[in-house]
Amino acid sequence: MDFDLTSDQKMLQTEVRKFAEAELGPVAPDIDKSGEFPWDNLKKMAELGLLGIIVPEEYGGAGFDFVSLAIAIEEISRVCATTGVIVAVNNSLTGYPIMQFGNDAQKKKYLPLLASGKKIGAFGLTEPNAGSDVAAMEATARLDGDHYILNGTKRFITNAGEAGVFIVFAYTNKELKHKGISVFIVERDTPGFSLGKHEDLMGIRATANCELIFEDAKIPKENLLGEENGGFKICMNTLDVSRIDIGAQAVGIAQGALDEAITYSKERKAFGQPICNFEMIQSMLAEMATQIQAARLLVYYAGYCKDKGMHRFSRESAMSKYYAAMIAVDVARMALQIHGGYGYTKDYPIERLYRDAKILELYEGTSEIQKIVIARDLLK
Ligand code: CAA
Repeated sequence: MDFDLTSDQKMLQTEVRKFAEAELGPVAPDIDKSGEFPWDNLKKMAELGLLGIIVPEEYGGAGFDFVSLAIAIEEISRVCATTGVIVAVNNSLTGYPIMQFGNDAQKKKYLPLLASGKKIGAFGLTEPNAGSDVAAMEATARLDGDHYILNGTKRFITNAGEAGVFIVFAYTNKELKHKGISVFIVERDTPGFSLGKHEDLMGIRATANCELIFEDAKIPKENLLGEENGGFKICMNTLDVSRIDIGAQAVGIAQGALDEAITYSKERKAFGQPICNFEMIQSMLAEMATQIQAARLLVYYAGYCKDKGMHRFSRESAMSKYYAAMIAVDVARMALQIHGGYGYTKDYPIERLYRDAKILELYEGTSEIQKIVIARDLLK
């Protein structure tokens, strides 16, 4: 057993941390306030290879493994959770399904665009009436000559307002239930495709979260990803991978909150001494650090399972996302508590981290869904 990161992983961790602190941290409060999609951040990250971390080098990516992706997302999210999830969606919810299930032409066309940041990716699964219950989706696609005609609405889609490449799920045969769902690569300028409501979110506010509207949208036949009616398994397999990254985002947010709490507790004085001297503060710091370390190990282990080529790692991935999200919310709460009344103002980053953390228990499968995945695996 080896708990050490490889030298490449350590180097990536150091470099991404340095970059994130210098470039992403200073603008994080501004983009939180304005809600403006951080294109400048993305351009700089594209140059460092962070938009295609797992994309093979032959398609313009950096060719790193999935543990490395988790490490990078943790470091980015530690200072800017918005940028963390944008990178996660580009890599594992858009790049990964194309890498894994795309044909040669699709890989050659779309992976370099995503890795270079020329186009940002988005994942169109959730609908107004279908969130946890994927198979309840209403979107449909029917083949008409050389095109699929896509109709439906997708909601709460991260990156959507600024994305150029969308992974979109729709029924091609409703009678087959989940076995009748297909998945398409959809380009932004597709006739019949438009954007709807832009969500004004509580946290991760600059993620261009938007509705997708398809009204007889014409998708070229060659943009079907994988087999017709094979979309449900592609979806689940992709979420197994991407949930590891949300676990990593959670570890990053939690680590950022702990770092803020440590700094503040050393500076703030009460009863004539720094508050870090008080055991009730120390108790919270110790609890936070232990929870973060446990979550980080679950996340790395899930990434390791993927890197080792394990056939199904749904349980490991769900455990990492479930646990890391839960502790991130709790760690952010404790870190804010340590800040006292100042933590409730916008003068300190902890207020933003506290708001950002909540989404972790909701997207890419709620915590309740993660427990279902874990329990089904235990009971099979
Ligand atoms: N890998 C491969 N196959 C899988 C699988 C996996 N991980 N999970 C399930 N399957 C297969 C099953 O084996 C089964 O196969 P057969 O039909 O051959 O028997 C089939 O898929 C159906 O499985 P279930 O009966 O378990 O399906 P279900 O309808 O009960 O749903 C669920 C299972 C876990 C609840 C699933 O619907 C789910 O994950 N829901 C949550 C959706 C979600 O995470 N949405 C996130 C949106 S994306 C997002 O949030 C992005 C963002 O903003 C950043």
